[in-house]
Amino acid sequence: MSTDSLFRPFNLKSLSIKNRIVMAPMTRSFSPDGIPTDAVATYYQKRAEGEVGLILSEGTVIDRVSSSNDANIPHFYGEKSLAGWKKVIDGVHAAGGSMAPQIWHMGIMDNHASGWVPSQPFEGPSGLNRPDFNNGNTMTEKDIEDTIIAYGKAAADAKRLGFDSVEIHGAHGYLIDQFFWEGTNLRTDGYGGKTLAERSRFGIEVVKEVRKQVGEDFAVIIRLSQWKPSAYTSQLAKTPQEMEAWLNPLADAGVDIFHCSQRRFWEPEFEDSDLNFAGWAKKITGKSTITVGSVGLTGEFLAAFGGESSDPSSLDELLRRMDRGDFDLVAVGRPLLADPSWVKKIKEGRTDELKGFSKEALAALIID
Ligand SMILES: Cc1cc2nc3c(=O)[nH]c(=O)nc-3n(C[C@H](O)[C@H](O)[C@H](O)COP(=O)(O)O)c2cc1C
Repeated sequence: MSTDSLFRPFNLKSLSIKNRIVMAPMTRSFSPDGIPTDAVATYYQKRAEGEVGLILSEGTVIDRVSSSNDANIPHFYGEKSLAGWKKVIDGVHAAGGSMAPQIWHMGIMDNHASGWVPSQPFEGPSGLNRPDFNNGNTMTEKDIEDTIIAYGKAAADAKRLGFDSVEIHGAHGYLIDQFFWEGTNLRTDGYGGKTLAERSRFGIEVVKEVRKQVGEDFAVIIRLSQWKPSAYTSQLAKTPQEMEAWLNPLADAGVDIFHCSQRRFWEPEFEDSDLNFAGWAKKITGKSTITVGSVGLTGEFLAAFGGESSDPSSLDELLRRMDRGDFDLVAVGRPLLADPSWVKKIKEGRTDELKGFSKEALAALIID
């Protein structure tokens, strides 16, 4: 099947991308004290040279004392960290690429295996990471207000440094998702509630503040997931109607692109339709969407953390859905960890040279 539809340009506000392929955000923990090193800049520049259309950075945390559980995860605040990020974006632009940082607050976390902990307890809607596990503080309204401001500040810094867009991490069981989920949001004030729509208030206010800080013309992406690591099969929105009540207010608040995280892009979201999450998000909101999840690989990514390898697989089903108009952009994770030239190889039909994924790709910043 022709891959031409992956190689059409995409333009939206501040984004001007040469093809439809997005590097998925992937935490690498190679930024000691939260500062991206020159090696990190080279790693991203190599993906731009390899013709990735839009690079999403690994999650990079906002300016809250306990926004991270790992000293090697990059900050998106502070002079030294932002100087590191400036080198990253300049290198990506020099190679003809585009990039957005994924701004992140982890919320309530498990303590990291390294033993490092932030100087204040983790913070979240109700102190919970999952229904049976409390490991931090319940945020006060003042904490919430300050955190929303910190997301906005990070977005403003992204624009100031020259990034092409910004992605808000609202997925995978971290802070914003902890507000969305009834299992971790037990609040009885205006940030809680029985319905997903009510529990979306925090996420909506984050989007509004980000929009306010970057202006109308800067593309804002939000990453969302139905699942979380502590509940793979859970669904925040159990029906299309619930999904409408969740996504439309986020769109109204200022989201331009919904990045719909699935572990396997071909899995339908609801009964009686083969549409995936990105397909439904586009149909409901009319906004652009990004799909993701095992594109071009045989196995899914959480198994990869357990050491499982994956082989290259066909793109035909992806292209069928894309040509039908289900989504605009396609994010690719593990193939790009292992091979900075993955996109080029797809474009040139060099499929016999694709590497697949093995756990060694997690251990280093591979640059060739
Ligand atoms: C090493 C690694 C780190 C990841 N870190 C993040 C992250 O920081 N933020 C995020 O939203 N997703 C993260 N993910 C999920 C990926 O963005 C992506 O959704 C997932 O790997 C599925 O895509 P794939 O099947 O193409 O690998 C990570 C995945 C991997 C493999």
